[in-house]
Amino acid sequence: MFRKFLHTVLFVPAVALPAAAFELPAPIDDADYIQSDPELAAIGRLLFYDKVLSGNRNISCGTCHHHDLNGADGLSLGIGEGGEGIGRDRSPGYEEMRIHARIPRSAPPIWNLGHKGISSVFHDGRLQLGDRWGNGFDSPAEDWLPKGLTSILAVQALFPITSHDEMAGNPGENEIADAVVPRLDGGWPIIAARIREIPAYVRMFSAAYDHVNGPEDITIVEIANAIGAFEAQEWQSHDSDFDAYVAGDDTALDAPEMRGMELFFGAAQCSTCHSGPLFTDQQFHALALPHFGPGKTRPWDPVPRDIGRMLKTDDLADAYRFRTPSLRNVALTAPYGHNGSMPTLEAMIRHHVDPAASLAAWTPEMAGLPDVPWLSTADFVMREDTLEDARMLARVEVDLPPLTDTEIGELVAFLECLTGRTAAERPMGRPDAVPSGLPVD
Ligand code: HEC
Ligand code: HEC
Repeated sequence: MFRKFLHTVLFVPAVALPAAAFELPAPIDDADYIQSDPELAAIGRLLFYDKVLSGNRNISCGTCHHHDLNGADGLSLGIGEGGEGIGRDRSPGYEEMRIHARIPRSAPPIWNLGHKGISSVFHDGRLQLGDRWGNGFDSPAEDWLPKGLTSILAVQALFPITSHDEMAGNPGENEIADAVVPRLDGGWPIIAARIREIPAYVRMFSAAYDHVNGPEDITIVEIANAIGAFEAQEWQSHDSDFDAYVAGDDTALDAPEMRGMELFFGAAQCSTCHSGPLFTDQQFHALALPHFGPGKTRPWDPVPRDIGRMLKTDDLADAYRFRTPSLRNVALTAPYGHNGSMPTLEAMIRHHVDPAASLAAWTPEMAGLPDVPWLSTADFVMREDTLEDARMLARVEVDLPPLTDTEIGELVAFLECLTGRTAAERPMGRPDAVPSGLPVD
């Protein structure tokens, strides 16, 4: 029997506190995820790690969303195509292949995105479910999105491969990078053509799909659906201590963790935004994390800042707003925030409680960035811009009560209880080899 959702804390600490009532989110089970065809997911796993999808055949999805790094890259801002290695050891490339810019935002971990409740992806939600373009998805590809994509994850997979810095490479370097300049959808047929030339993929796609009888039937849609199937199946995680507690195991959380839970859903007000079974309202809020790196803003903006949700909506009210992230497995996926500016859970919580003080105290050493000597001056120019900090602070939307050091420690202890007990044991894992024969990161 699942614990009743309206929950009364029965735990009595040394100094008795009044019992507080709060709501626990509904439990998750396997039926809450979109169902993936295992055969298709197996192809998706290979594609996810196959560098053949990148313009210069030098980076895969797995480079930035790696199994060894819990579905992310462990960096504040990642290094896209042109780099080598993973995580903190990733190099920025050499000579003409060296990177021109860091990736402007932090690679989010991809846990639980196959949950049926997911309606929005990317830090600014620029891909959402919706029928604005008559195809079920409100995405940067608008009405150019091909038909037949089966999930929001499949749609998402179409974008990194068209991004110059992430996977496509720079114009002049390869046919994909050139094709995406005039139109976002120009690269997709070229990528599909590469896959059609690899017999192992043709065999697997023909076996998995009734409508694929030969290379000519493989399009970017089949490719993206396979990647989406893999992500949805591989990265499910809902067996944390907290889940055990919700399912009725009273011993699953110890005393500090229980106090952290009580704060989270009660006085500290965390669950006003980190709500529901995935601990996110999937809405957008401004928290004023410090700008650094190339930023993401409108083309004519001279200030290298990240204006967040406003990029999608063009509405000033959305300036600096970012999507509330899920907190499942959050203890595994430092650094935190849309740009990875906060190195620890404690620093992130302190920032929520007092954004102005946190912003003022922030130093570049807090960013986890691989060394890139030719970018080091540009990386932190924004830290001199006090006017921009003031603009950002004026839009902050968290107004939380102060927390003692003990309470922050208890909240951290509770967040650590959201780590899946089997998070490290993924059902499929990273492949050692991929059909293109290219090396696997
Ligand atoms: C160079 C690093 C890099 C590569 C390569 C890369 N990604 Fe990402 N990924 C990111 C970053 C950074 C974001 C966040 C971008 C944003 O929100 O603006 C992201 C976002 C995502 C998201 C949305 C997560 C969420 O919670 O909203 C998914 C899913 C994802 N990537 C899957 C993929 C797939 C599939 C591929 C390969 C086709 C891929 N990524 C290649 C860095 C990368
Ligand atoms: C007003 C809504 C709101 C409230 C209340 C709130 N958060 Fe957040 N939280 C966010 C948003 C939005 C982000 C992402 C901000 C960004 O990337 O710029 C975030 C990020 C985080 C992160 C980083 C997760 C990651 O993967 O990067 C943690 C941890 C976190 N919040 C914990 C908490 C805790 C603990 C509380 C209660 C003390 C809390 N939050 C209260 C909206 C909120």
